[in-house]
Amino acid sequence: MKTYIVGNWKLNFTVGEASIYLHKLLKAMPNYRDVEVVVAPSLIALQPLSLQVDRHKMKLAAQNAFYRDTGAFTGEVSFAQLRGIVDYAIVGHSERRYILREDDKMIAKKVAAAVRNKITPILCIGETESERAFGETADVIRDQLTGGLSEVSDDMLDKVIIAYEPVWAISSTKAAKAAAPDEIAEVVRLIRASLVDMYGAVAERVPVLFGGSVKPVNAGAYLTVPGVDGLLVGGSSLILNEFVDIIEVAKRVRS
Ligand code: PGA
Repeated sequence: MKTYIVGNWKLNFTVGEASIYLHKLLKAMPNYRDVEVVVAPSLIALQPLSLQVDRHKMKLAAQNAFYRDTGAFTGEVSFAQLRGIVDYAIVGHSERRYILREDDKMIAKKVAAAVRNKITPILCIGETESERAFGETADVIRDQLTGGLSEVSDDMLDKVIIAYEPVWAISSTKAAKAAAPDEIAEVVRLIRASLVDMYGAVAERVPVLFGGSVKPVNAGAYLTVPGVDGLLVGGSSLILNEFVDIIEVAKRVRS
């Protein structure tokens, strides 16, 4: 299986800054066949960057899009409009769940809309600090998985990626702390088992990424957690040399 290194730029960089970063990244980044490098810039930068990116080297992702293809939805941009511009889309990120109030029903529609438009959704799931403290992690993970995938049929499953992002480990969360590899391994096992319960053995092939305070120093440890197929990187993906270092680590530990 490929190793995925996905940079989530969140609400950072002007279009010009994003273009300069991409130019430098394409130059600095060696081409590793088995490492799929993806960056998710702001929506406004996607179209110009899609003309600039070398898709043999890396791919673009949207950070969000709307589930209806067209219509009276003021302010929204659809997956249909992003078709051909991005290869991936982050769906259900915790910042959208908690700040923009997206629920599992809306997230499920977005996952289905992405697949329908030939865009691979990266469905983010993860428990908050208090849910973990109350012993609710397994329930939250199962609920977010079954909720987010409720419109995904067996034959669509190979178009989906899951990202486990414990909210308490995301660097922008107050008092965030990096997750320990064994904490990640336990939840990734649970994700895999839930997917197998839902879809059978085909679920073994669904890539599962980890995200939350990933940096060059911990990328190797996280990429060697059993069941982890890649990383979703926020803060560290904004710093070119750190992101390149993480790609190098991926190449080293996974090849
Ligand atoms: P972080 O963000 O790497 O800055 O913790 C990860 C994410 O929110 O996807």
